[in-house]
Amino acid sequence: MLSSSRKPANTIENLICTAERIATGEWRSIVVTCRTGRREQLEPDVTQPTLVETALPNLDVVRLAGRLGAEIRNVRLSGDLPDATITAINQLLLKHKVIFFRDQGHLDDGEQERFAVRLGNLVPHPTVGATKGTSSILELDSNRGGGRADQWHTDVTFVDAYPKFSVLRGVVIPEFGGDTIWSNTAAAYEHLPATLKRLAEELWAVHSNAYDYAAVRSRATEADRKHFEEVFTGTIYETEHPVVRVHPETGERTLVLGNFVQRFVGHSKADGQKLLELFQSHITSPENTVRWRWQAGDVAIWDNRATQHYAVNDYGDQHRIVRRATVDGDVPVSVDGRRSVTRTKATKPTAVKAA
Ligand SMILES: [Fe+2]
Repeated sequence: MLSSSRKPANTIENLICTAERIATGEWRSIVVTCRTGRREQLEPDVTQPTLVETALPNLDVVRLAGRLGAEIRNVRLSGDLPDATITAINQLLLKHKVIFFRDQGHLDDGEQERFAVRLGNLVPHPTVGATKGTSSILELDSNRGGGRADQWHTDVTFVDAYPKFSVLRGVVIPEFGGDTIWSNTAAAYEHLPATLKRLAEELWAVHSNAYDYAAVRSRATEADRKHFEEVFTGTIYETEHPVVRVHPETGERTLVLGNFVQRFVGHSKADGQKLLELFQSHITSPENTVRWRWQAGDVAIWDNRATQHYAVNDYGDQHRIVRRATVDGDVPVSVDGRRSVTRTKATKPTAVKAA
């Protein structure tokens, strides 16, 4: 697929390849740097179809916002899709960060998981567990405690190897309201001024599921509070993540923050709050976001390593149920090669375990 007008003189063993923005099947370029320092830019052969075009010939990709989000049309999700199609979906996911599929009403929990497992190993929520009879399905029901995720977050960052993908299916959708917003944490990093990039690269943050619930969740009901106390924090985790991680598949640098952040390593709580607000304001700026208006049967899949999301809680007493399958991730690595570490994992003696 790649061609070059000039061949690098050195053998491949003497080359270090630096992929620049090759997150998708649409290779823009690859830069090869020789040990001598000479650089070669290899351009894609645009006469050849990309892997995505080959695997999904009828594919229709409709971009929804400038920096992330695309609706993928003419694909029926299932566990029986060919490997090439799964690879293509993975590539689209890496490129667009969050992808949407309408009209997937044929999926039930089992088929949702049969599809999701094609993207990687499924993993249950570490404290809530999985819906009975499933490997990883987490039901978010607005009528039950913990069903409204109206805070900016990346899923499950209170553990070290938090999930890489989430696959969310709309089951019961309000007539109006209940949208979800995603933000692109790679673009948020990329658009920071150089001084803030350097600051972020040096910072580490402590993420925990045992955050100050009353302070953060002012709209929570008594059922929400009870779910938080007895289930969500049944085991308390504290994990240190670099504020900037290197994405293991794209090489992009992404910000790892959100509402599970408790403090910054080596900084006071007060300074940490200001740091969090500073970087979160960049992550959630409208230019970095895309918003999805749900219909029952929709599926949204996001790269949890490169996004945050927020479930808009504006639908009052209307009923909303979505179900999430979660794909296992790997331990984040900082720009200087250090890995995230879980410092605390403590079970509450009074906790009531989820079914
Ligand atoms: Fe979430």
